Formats: sequence, C-alpha cells, structure tokens
Amino acid sequence: MSPSPAQLKSYHHPGRRSNTAATCNPITCCCSCIFNCIINLICQIIITVAIIITITVLIFCFIFHPNVPKFYVDDVTLTQFTLSPNNTLFYNLKINMTFRNPNRRLGIYYEQIEVNGLYHGQRFLISEIEGFYLGNKEENNVSLVVDGEQLVVNGGVKSKYESEKNDDDVYEIELKLRLKMRFKVLWVETPKFKPRFDCELKVPLSRVSNARFERTKCGIDWYKRIW
Ligand SMILES: *[C@@H]1O[C@H](CO)[C@@H](O)[C@H](O)[C@H]1NC(C)=O
Ligand SMILES: *[C@@H]1O[C@H](CO)[C@@H](O)[C@H](O)[C@H]1NC(C)=O
Ligand SMILES: *[C@@H]1O[C@H](CO)[C@@H](O)[C@H](O)[C@H]1NC(C)=O
Repeated sequence: MSPSPAQLKSYHHPGRRSNTAATCNPITCCCSCIFNCIINLICQIIITVAIIITITVLIFCFIFHPNVPKFYVDDVTLTQFTLSPNNTLFYNLKINMTFRNPNRRLGIYYEQIEVNGLYHGQRFLISEIEGFYLGNKEENNVSLVVDGEQLVVNGGVKSKYESEKNDDDVYEIELKLRLKMRFKVLWVETPKFKPRFDCELKVPLSRVSNARFERTKCGIDWYKRIW
C-alpha cells in the first residue's frame, strides 16, 4: 500500500520538531516551561474567580431582587425667574421631591446628594441635600429652597428665555442629582455607587402662569465610573 499525502506529511513532522528541539538549550526550555505553567495557572485562577463572581451575583439577584431606586419631583414653586438685560438670572424656587426605596430586602444609604439646576445647558444652581437612610420600601420627602443669581454666559439662553416667557411663563429646567449611595444587605454594606438622576421639568412661574406643575418621575443614569 502506497502512503497517502496525509501520511507522508505526518512522517515528515516529527523530524522537523526534533530539529527545533535540538536548538533549544535546557535552561531556555525550562524557563519557558515555568513561564507557561504560570500563565496557565493565572488563566485558571481568573476563570475560577469570574465563575464565582457570576454565581454570587446571580444568587444575590435571585434572593434580593435589587431594584433601581426611584426619584420624583412632586412640586416646584417658582417665585422668581428673571433674566435681566445684563444677562443675570435671578431665581427663587422651592422643590418638593420624593426618594423611594422600592426594595423589599435592601436598605439604601444616601451618603451624598448634590443637586444641580440647568437652564438650557447653563448651570445656575448647585446645592446639597443632607444624606439619609431608607429602609425597605420606605420613602423620604425632601424640600429644598434655593435662591440666587447667576451670570448667563451661554448666548442662546436669552432667546429661549424670551420665548418661554411669552409662552405662559413655563420654563424648561433640568435637574441633575449626583449621588453617592450604598446598599445595605442584611448587615453588610456594598461598595459606593455613584448614580445620577436626570429630570426634565416644565416649571410654571407661580401666580403668573396658568399652567400647573406636573409630578415628574426622573430617570436614573449609572455613571461610567460607578465606584
Ligand atoms: C444686573 O442688573 C441687575 C438689575 O437688573 C442688578 O441688580 C445687578 O447687580 C446687575 N448685575 C451686574 C453683574 O451688573
Ligand atoms: C412641599 O413640602 C412642604 C414641606 O416639606 C409642604 O408643606 C408642602 O405642602 C409641599 N407641597 C406640595 C405641593 O406637596
Ligand atoms: C411624600 O409626597 C408624596 C407626594 O406629594 C405623597 O404622596 C406621600 O404621601 C408623601 N410621603 C410622606 C412620607 O410624607
């Protein structure tokens, strides 16, 4: 029986291999073996850790059903919102809001709450709310009163202000909350998360506008850098 091309190939192979092996000195060979062993070991450890973390997260989710915290702006009382000819925005507003923990088995520590107010991209207010703890299914109503003035540098704001002033004094204000929070699981606290709530509000000027403020549910936005 004459050998097929495949068999011929396999006859040639070992010969070539032993040639290359002969050029490898024992120390280099040994080093590369140890190196390979370490790489293998590291790979196995990484895979094992990844599997353990995945299983832990799945069990955690199954037992605790974590839900995204909720945030609502219930009411905004805007008593002043005036852009003067020298581009200074004078404002006075009171914001009623609700933080809600929808979880049945997780507590939430709100450690830091930074409130930012933007008017068509121009930030005009920055404030802080004192942190608090919310147990299972609890909610906390917080009231924030802010007033002040802000030089408006964004040129596009003026025309938007004029048109909203003419349109029944309803102003589009964006509220951005930056949070630092932890979940509490049984007795254990998780690492810090840094989510952000974004709210697009339509706020009527009190006692001037005919419009009413409508309770607004705000969306949560997880930062890229969560902890
Ligand atoms: C801008 O004008 C208001 C009055 O309309 C005045 O009270 C305020 O001081 C002025 N601000 C600046 C920076 O000139
Ligand atoms: C806003 O909150 C204050 C006190 O926290 C309360 O007196 C007021 O009734 C609230 N307003 C609305 C519309 O819920
Ligand atoms: C918080 O405010 C909302 C809306 O105004 C109201 O429905 C809720 O009962 C309030 N909760 C507490 C604990 O006062």
